[in-house]
Parts: sequence; structure tokens; C-alpha cells
Amino acid sequence: MTREDDLEILFDEQAIERTVLELAAQISRDYAGKDLLLVCILKGAAIFFTDLARRLTIPVMLEFAQVSSYGSGSVSSRVVTVTKDIGSDISGKHVLLVDGIIDTGTTMDFLLKRYRERGLASLKVAVLLDKHAHRTVDVPIDYRGFEIPDRFVVGYGMDSREKYRNLPYIAAVRQE
Ligand code: IMP
Ligand code: MG
Repeated sequence: MTREDDLEILFDEQAIERTVLELAAQISRDYAGKDLLLVCILKGAAIFFTDLARRLTIPVMLEFAQVSSYGSGSVSSRVVTVTKDIGSDISGKHVLLVDGIIDTGTTMDFLLKRYRERGLASLKVAVLLDKHAHRTVDVPIDYRGFEIPDRFVVGYGMDSREKYRNLPYIAAVRQE
């Protein structure tokens, strides 16, 4: 990548806002009367998570987890590790994992397996961006913002080497 990346906007602020509102309405309906624990998967979900949480009309609790994956080569060789785990006892809770983007599915598959063992009332997945062309692990997605083509995207939490997370829109990085 060059010094100045060439960005092509895929979803502007208005489009994102509309979608986040729709997801929030759906989640608020589905979890009405239940105690929901919303889990932010850092760092990519950070911006989406805070916008989504503010739009929910039901009471929720917020938690944070962070993972990193090593080995950028083949997907099967990638190892996901938890660098920060949920800080409270989640047994018996309705848990919704929130991530910014799902690509191969390796990360979310790892998290689902990890938290499924903790005696939850329910465990679901919300992602803003679904890059489905790249999926190698079949992961159930309960709430999905946008389906995106097989392109590298940045902004609204998503990064390229830690840059661009603060962009208010989502853009694809144009390849030369
Ligand atoms: P997965 O485990 O292959 O589903 O990858 C998920 C993680 O890869 C995301 O949480 C992101 O950190 C990263 N990722 C995948 N595609 C993109 C992209 O297009 N832009 C930025 N990060 C991405
Ligand atoms: Mg990244």
C-alpha cells in the first residue's frame, strides 16, 4: 500500500446510521423482557458497538473482549487468542457478540465455541459487515448490517494496519 491509500466509499454516514437503527430495532424487539449482555469484540466493533447500544430501547449490559489472530498465511494455520476476556460471570445470560466484520469466520467460530461452554441462556452474533465470499467456517449470523464484496475495507472501526478506524464512513481500499 502506498502512503496515501485510494479509498472508495461503500457506505456513507447516512447509510450506516439507517442500518444501525434497523438492527437496533430488531434486537430490541427480539430481546424484549430479557436481560441482554452485549459484548464488543475489540477493536473493530468499537464504533458500531457504541452506536448500536445507544439505539437500543431495552436495558442492556455492556462487556468487552479482545482477540488477535496470528499467521496471516493460510486460514487453517491461523491461531486466534483472547487478549482480553469478558470481565464478569456470564452464565445464565443472553449474550450477543458484536463484531465489525466477519471474513473467513475463524474468529467468530472460535468465540462461539469458547462462550458456548459457559452455560448461557442464549448466544447470538451481530456483525455490521459480512464478507461472505471469503467464508471458510460456517458461522450462524443472527444480525447482519451489510453484505460486502471480497474487498479490503476500512473505516467505522475497521483498520488497515491500525489506520482509518475513526473514519465516519466505510470505504474499500482501491488496489492498483
Ligand atoms: P475472520 O476471522 O477471517 O472472520 O476475520 C475477522 C477479522 O479480520 C476481523 O475482525 C478484522 O479484524 C479482520 N478483517 C477481515 N477483513 C477485513 C477488512 O476488509 N478490513 C479490515 N479488517 C478485516
Ligand atoms: Mg485489523
